[in-house]
Amino acid sequence: MSRYAVIGKPVGHSKSPLIHRLFAEQTGQDVQYEAIEVELEALTIFVKQFFENGGAGLNVTLPYKEQVYALAQSRSNRAQQAQAANTLFLDTDGNLTADNTDGIGLVRDLRDNNRVEIRDRRVLLLGAGGAARGALGALLAEAPASLVIANRTMGKAEQLQQEFRSLHPIEVREFAELSGMHFDLIINATSMGIHNEVPPISATLLATTCCCYDMMYSHGKTAFVEWAEQAGATQALDGIGMLVEQAAEAFAIWRGVHPETASVIAQLRG
Ligand code: ATR
Repeated sequence: MSRYAVIGKPVGHSKSPLIHRLFAEQTGQDVQYEAIEVELEALTIFVKQFFENGGAGLNVTLPYKEQVYALAQSRSNRAQQAQAANTLFLDTDGNLTADNTDGIGLVRDLRDNNRVEIRDRRVLLLGAGGAARGALGALLAEAPASLVIANRTMGKAEQLQQEFRSLHPIEVREFAELSGMHFDLIINATSMGIHNEVPPISATLLATTCCCYDMMYSHGKTAFVEWAEQAGATQALDGIGMLVEQAAEAFAIWRGVHPETASVIAQLRG
């Protein structure tokens, strides 16, 4: 039996234990996976002891993705781009290694599960915090026609523009400066949904065919999904599929086998 866990605060409502149990059943892997709430002061020692005591891998959720990235001795390219990690494991030399599967999770849910093209499409990314940073590398790797970041705080959008400029040009705008533009894909990476709010943008930004994607999910429809449906989006998707896909990629890193995700997504929605 190999031991895994997701750590964060709060983490009590995490769906990750259920997702990984379904993956383990499906692939016949003998793994145990639990959710553990860890205090910030205890984070470093917890991670160290978890692996010293034979733990095989950790997922990391809010608010610790940046902290564990800093703790790691080795970091994947995609973790470096995100400057944050959601997956930890020991490499063959026993080094604590940080990876980030959030961006690829988003892209797989869009491209593979929902047939949403990113290549050659006009993409609007709402937000410039940790969620946006985690998504950018994978989105830009798909070669969109253009990518605009809109954020309340311009400095944070400009920072991302600078950091990712070698991958792809990025345009930055205030929310109020978007009028007249049209997008094929609009991704909400703000945390406004926590308060049932949506970014202050107009329905006129949606191209004739436009997918709106909320990186968040909730029990019912998220505020952004409701807004997108009213705005006339062709597809209005929440982040459940991304959640399952980032978990599947972590499972594949740890176990060397990539689980099938469609049935797990369906089960979570049910
Ligand atoms: P996360 O890790 O979830 O991305 P974060 O790093 O705190 O969290 O980023 C939150 C994002 O939501 C930011 O883009 C933030 O905008 P600012 O950079 O201007 O802070 C955005 N956000 C949160 N609340 C907001 C609000 N009330 N209005 C506009 N943007 C908001």
